Amino acid sequence: MKKIFLALVAAVAVSGAFAQKGVAQNQGAAAFTAAITTAGVIKLQPANLQRGEVIMQALAKRQSTRAFSDKELSLTDISDLLWAADGINRPEKGLRTAPSSRNRQDIFLYISCAAGSFAYNHKENTLEKVSDTDCRSDKIAPLIIYIVANSDDPSTGIDAGLVSQNISLFCSGVGLATVCRTSMDKKAVAEGLKLPDGYRPVINHPVGYFK
Ligand SMILES: Cc1cc2nc3c(=O)[nH]c(=O)nc-3n(C[C@H](O)[C@H](O)[C@H](O)COP(=O)(O)O)c2cc1C
Repeated sequence: MKKIFLALVAAVAVSGAFAQKGVAQNQGAAAFTAAITTAGVIKLQPANLQRGEVIMQALAKRQSTRAFSDKELSLTDISDLLWAADGINRPEKGLRTAPSSRNRQDIFLYISCAAGSFAYNHKENTLEKVSDTDCRSDKIAPLIIYIVANSDDPSTGIDAGLVSQNISLFCSGVGLATVCRTSMDKKAVAEGLKLPDGYRPVINHPVGYFK
């Protein structure tokens, strides 16, 4: 717990994904569920690097929110959100928006929504369906991101916390609501996400529009 907290503090200094000034953009974007194909693989959009507030505004607005609108996120929102969380920002080396201790890359992102659960494929920039199970036990937001780890190294909690802070700053910077949570039924989530042996959910982030 202490390590995750320290990571969240440290992440404030390292997150540069939202440093560019720009206007929140989400014009005409279709709801995410409209993009779900029967094949179960959703091609995400390239991240919009002009989107959102300057970093200091994002920090000023960062807060935990526990009441969300029913309004669905769009494919554009989810594409930008996942890239900001831990997408590849240096394709020539496959490195990501969040730092990784010893570059172990031991963090994996999943989302759950009414349509089921999906794994984020960082390299292909796709969401791939893993199950029909909606793991959101409390369903307070239209979508929950699960930050999953496949290592027990002492630094893994820090890696997860850095991804969490990227999510929080993206949300505050573009006018979305979220909360970082470690409380969850980890066994049920691991089953619902069909996690391979050795993978465990560490943090979950409900994400949506403000109520
Ligand atoms: C490691 C960690 C775990 C947390 N777990 C939960 C949680 O399980 N449920 C929850 O509602 N909030 C959780 N929070 C959010 C805190 O309650 C929240 O950050 C704190 O009350 C301060 O509010 P603020 O984020 O708006 O500044 C967690 C925060 C951290 C850093």
